[in-house]
Amino acid sequence: MIIDPRKRRKEQHTPVYIGETEVERVKTFKFLGIYVSEVLIWSHNTQQLLRRSQQRLSSSGSDTELRNEVTNNLRAGSLEGEQKNSDNNQNAFGATTCNVCGMLYSPSTTEDETQHLLFHNQFISAVRYVGWKKERILGEYPDGKIILVLPDDPKYALKKVEEIREMVDNDLGFQQVETKVPSQTKTFLFISNDKKVTGCLIAEHIQEGYRVIEEPLPEGSEREKVMFERQRAWCCSTVPEPAVCGISRIWVFNMMRRRGIASRMIECLRNNFIYGSHLSKDEIAFSDPTPDGKLFATHYCGTSQFLVYNFISGTRLT
Ligand SMILES: CC(C)(COP(=O)(O)OP(=O)(O)OC[C@H]1O[C@@H](n2cnc3c(N)ncnc32)[C@H](O)[C@@H]1OP(=O)(O)O)[C@@H](O)C(=O)NCCC(=O)NCCS
Ligand SMILES: [Zn+2]
Repeated sequence: MIIDPRKRRKEQHTPVYIGETEVERVKTFKFLGIYVSEVLIWSHNTQQLLRRSQQRLSSSGSDTELRNEVTNNLRAGSLEGEQKNSDNNQNAFGATTCNVCGMLYSPSTTEDETQHLLFHNQFISAVRYVGWKKERILGEYPDGKIILVLPDDPKYALKKVEEIREMVDNDLGFQQVETKVPSQTKTFLFISNDKKVTGCLIAEHIQEGYRVIEEPLPEGSEREKVMFERQRAWCCSTVPEPAVCGISRIWVFNMMRRRGIASRMIECLRNNFIYGSHLSKDEIAFSDPTPDGKLFATHYCGTSQFLVYNFISGTRLT
């Protein structure tokens, strides 16, 4: 971090280099779990904290049940049901789940309401999928299809991927950064029958991953396991192991979760990441997984000791 104490900052900073690479100047960055802004104010950090806590609340068991109820009502096309559920959907903290974008927010707080509106609009535009002439369809299912977008695809396809990635990063509370090497990433999109992007997986080539070392989840109900997962610290080995494919983002629209969409996207990834070969689960690593990501990866890989990589936050791992 460079601190510039000058009062007048008319001229640009001289670029800083590490070797031959220019150090990127960012508006905010995450250091030991705290967002530091370029003007040293806390608002971004506070917003991210709020967002994280909202996400955790929105993922608790009772909300999942409520969300399923909302989804069922939406599917039945009952407007009355929608209204009723969105009213009922208010939790003990006065928060409401928007039944379009799925965000949990408190309508009585202006800041929250604004944040919701911003995300809501970004979400609506990002998930809209008009259909492309040339689609690389990898799988067709009763509830949708999976398509693959490659770095050399037409601009409109890459633009959609970028829009989705920004929205996903926002949903995950990630800092907005360009995908590291866009020319090498492969993006898998799940398109639902109503022409919306409801799942996204961005994969990249990697050389190594690190195995999570932690106690397996204790026996108990799913709710207990989820609560445990959300609270515990975790760490991973410092010994690198060879890996081939890194999952840099995996995301499913929260009203469509637990229907095997993420699992189907990973199946497609394993079959199509390298032409003519099928990746084993041990060749895949997850980038800095969230609690949801860990629960999913543990189930998908059949072990809590799966591979991870690219853990920039430094707070989750020792
Ligand atoms: C993680 C995520 C992509 C999973 O997507 P999904 O489509 O719901 O996953 P699947 O339906 O394929 O899940 C397969 C299994 O994984 C486990 N699993 C997935 N999400 C889980 C969760 N939140 N809690 C507990 N178990 C979970 C379950 O065993 C599930 O099988 P089941 O539904 O039959 O019990 C989704 O929760 C998501 O988008 N979360 C927000 C973004 C995020 O955190 N991404 C991870 C970045 S590393
Ligand atoms: Zn909304």
